[in-house]
Amino acid sequence: MPFLFAALFHLLWHAHQVTASSPVNSTHRSQQAYSHSLLANGVARTPPMGWNSWNHFHCDIDEKTIKSTADAIVSTGLARLGYKYVNLDDCWAEGERDNVGNLRAKASTFPSGIKALADYVHSKGLKLGIYADAGKRTCSNKMPGSLGHEYQDAKNFAEWGVDYLKYDNCYNDGSKPQTRYAAMSRALRNAGRLILFSLCEWGQEDPAKWASSYGHSWRTTGDINDTWASITSIADSNNIWGRYAGPGRWNDPDMLEVGNGGMNIEEYRSHFSIWALMKAPLLIGCDVRSASKETLTILGNKEVIDVNQDSLGVQGRKIRSNGGLEVWAGPLSGKRVVVVFWNRSQARAIISVKWREIGLSPSTLVAVRDLWKHSFVSMNKRYRMGAYVAGHACKMYIMIPVRG
Ligand SMILES: *[C@@H]1O[C@H](CO)[C@@H](O)[C@H](O)[C@H]1NC(C)=O
Ligand SMILES: *[C@@H]1O[C@H](CO)[C@@H](O)[C@H](O)[C@H]1NC(C)=O
Ligand SMILES: *[C@@H]1O[C@H](CO)[C@@H](O)[C@H](O)[C@H]1NC(C)=O
Repeated sequence: MPFLFAALFHLLWHAHQVTASSPVNSTHRSQQAYSHSLLANGVARTPPMGWNSWNHFHCDIDEKTIKSTADAIVSTGLARLGYKYVNLDDCWAEGERDNVGNLRAKASTFPSGIKALADYVHSKGLKLGIYADAGKRTCSNKMPGSLGHEYQDAKNFAEWGVDYLKYDNCYNDGSKPQTRYAAMSRALRNAGRLILFSLCEWGQEDPAKWASSYGHSWRTTGDINDTWASITSIADSNNIWGRYAGPGRWNDPDMLEVGNGGMNIEEYRSHFSIWALMKAPLLIGCDVRSASKETLTILGNKEVIDVNQDSLGVQGRKIRSNGGLEVWAGPLSGKRVVVVFWNRSQARAIISVKWREIGLSPSTLVAVRDLWKHSFVSMNKRYRMGAYVAGHACKMYIMIPVRG
């Protein structure tokens, strides 16, 4: 069995490189050229990092909350670790457009307007994200959608100094998302400002296959929630699309729930580790202003963040699952390999991996770094390693070839 997995894993990595570098027909080639032009602007070369209001606040947002969150992202040190986007989700605008058809900030909650908010966020060295919808209304049904208003809205976002757009899919007209998301993509590229475009059509039309022509990330699943059932099923759904991810084009398994209270520390650590390994956008979804020390320790683990932000940009995948004892792995720059042992079951056994399963030759001498213990593992075997993993917990390592 290990031989089979090893062969398969090698094949998948190889296939990834082949598809990434040698387009097979002209349709494919023009899509590649298009996505290269999105990449050429340097946006999202590594997975986006930041914060979004939805998972914790839902519609209950106002400019004070957003500004004090920006302050907290800086004062907690999260900004220094790369969390730079401060993203508004649904409910920032009035229920109707103004008399010339512009979206306007909700006067009761954002009295200073979005431009002033962007200026504030920028003054902190951060970036501002906003939310809109490829239909007639947003999902809350509390503000207008952008369908038919793409150019006008994109122009306003650019003028306000917005840096990121999450584009949802509610109340649409039943037409193909490809058309509706392409329209906003064109509008953004004509708006005169670099804006990261995050497609949120919930994975319905296999966006991994087409969305890199239009934006920098795309949701692969329905909404996350703060439960173990949600993160395990979303991880598996997102895993399927691994080979489509790369610099400038990321699968998005939705925003983080770490710190929202529905899971224990081990479960949140697993959630964060697997999202990092899958090269998911790392968008914090809790109230950073009151985040516990434990929450900040998880979100602030620089060694795990470095895996997510690795320059190679290859999404790690599940390489083995045996009664809920799972091994996930993927290549990193410098011929290093990241490995996560994830215990999703009640079964008692040691999780282990052999070098050949993760693309390393058995004779390779490897230094093993434990990213949660922040220490090197002392090795008694050269060609494999194993560890006990507590319930719903994970271990995360980087294998660093030193010789062989
Ligand atoms: C060409 O590539 C496109 C995009 O990847 C794909 O949809 C299409 O099926 C391919 N056509 C042929 C003839 O292979
Ligand atoms: C959370 O997600 C899981 C898995 O998709 C689903 O079964 C469950 O119904 C969801 N719970 C809520 C409260 O939406
Ligand atoms: C995995 O977690 C279960 C509890 O969910 C525990 O009983 C078991 O010992 C753990 N497995 C390993 C390998 O530690």
